[in-house]
Amino acid sequence: LAPTIAEAQKFVANYDESKIPDYQLPDPLVTQAGEAVTTPEQWRERRSVLVDLFEKHVYGVSPKPCPIRHSLVSCDENALGGKAVRREVDVFFGESDDAHSMRLLIYTPTKSTGASAAFVGLNFQGNHTIDPDPSISITESWVRDRRDDSTDGHRATAAGRGVAASRWPVETIIDRGYSLVTIYYGDIDPDFDDGFQNGIHGPLGSQLDDVPQVHRWGSIAAWAYGLSRALDYLETDSAIDATRVAVIGHSRLGKTSLWAGASDPRFAMVISNDSGCGGAALSRRAIGETIGRINTSFPHWFCDQYVKYNENENACPVDQHELLALIAPRPLYVASATEDQWADPKGEFMSATLADPVYRLLGTDGMGGKSLPDEMPAADQPIKSGRIGYHLRTGKHDLAKYDWEQYLDFADKHLTKKE
Ligand code: GCU
Repeated sequence: LAPTIAEAQKFVANYDESKIPDYQLPDPLVTQAGEAVTTPEQWRERRSVLVDLFEKHVYGVSPKPCPIRHSLVSCDENALGGKAVRREVDVFFGESDDAHSMRLLIYTPTKSTGASAAFVGLNFQGNHTIDPDPSISITESWVRDRRDDSTDGHRATAAGRGVAASRWPVETIIDRGYSLVTIYYGDIDPDFDDGFQNGIHGPLGSQLDDVPQVHRWGSIAAWAYGLSRALDYLETDSAIDATRVAVIGHSRLGKTSLWAGASDPRFAMVISNDSGCGGAALSRRAIGETIGRINTSFPHWFCDQYVKYNENENACPVDQHELLALIAPRPLYVASATEDQWADPKGEFMSATLADPVYRLLGTDGMGGKSLPDEMPAADQPIKSGRIGYHLRTGKHDLAKYDWEQYLDFADKHLTKKE
């Protein structure tokens, strides 16, 4: 639901660093009782406390993994002029005949010897929008009415084929030897507020009867749950090496890839593209989009408890650098864009640096180098020598070719098969 004018006016965005309120960040390496975490064993305990806090206060508690089944919908062994095999696979949330399903669009390189590493990411408008190939099925799920010819009300149309292709450089990904798996996020949970009934919330939600309403999963958690079930399926797919899967997402789907990576340690690498508020950006900076604003515009993304931190960020027991720390020691890449101040690039960068001590405690080089950079790197000067990558791209809020180039380099470094 769109916020009322009065509600929206309450949250006038601040973009002035000098007006950031005083705040104190929780330290990922200090327990709730105030004790320092100094060993990997102690971190493991601390980590599970933090996961629990993020569940109860931010994204909501999700059900336990459901069993899945799948069926092959289509297969083209000669996609991209013979470079790739393209398949569509329906994955069902549960074993019953009427179980809810999502459709995976999978490209695997023909050239690959053995199972390949893969990028898995949700898309915003339907699988058919990521490439103009007319044989990709058009999503039948609810879509946002774009008031152009790519939608007819809440149905997608053939005119939408390939409209998001700039965000999905399929051929480049294949040429670099990776598979690509993408899913329309609306297959998992339609992106509108309906009191957590539709999508997988309905059929799986009853498992949460013993969880207080305020702590139950919002849509970001549902989308992340879908990504984990996609990974369950990939573990059975011989073309893909499920131990080398990077989860990637842009914007709200970047928030989602971070939560998927934090809550499911099987994701071998995590990429947050312009994820902003409720993603990589520090909430306590309260600059650009804030918790109050995001909960007003998108009341279904987070759990209801999160509303308690509207204009009250200091009361939240966690902040987003601790979400990034939950991904340690796995490779993590955070990216921002210069014209995306709404997502607070500086807050995203700070978050990445604040996760560094946890990466180092776990015996990795964190952001790389002996010490952390004092300042944000200039635009288009990626930091990617260590386990935590970061860049600030020149340009708008988008998933661009430049972003993918950095992610592919980062994957070459971290996802290449160790012989
Ligand atoms: C809005 C929202 C952001 C979100 C973005 C997107 O701008 O305020 O939090 O990341 O939509 O998903 O594109």
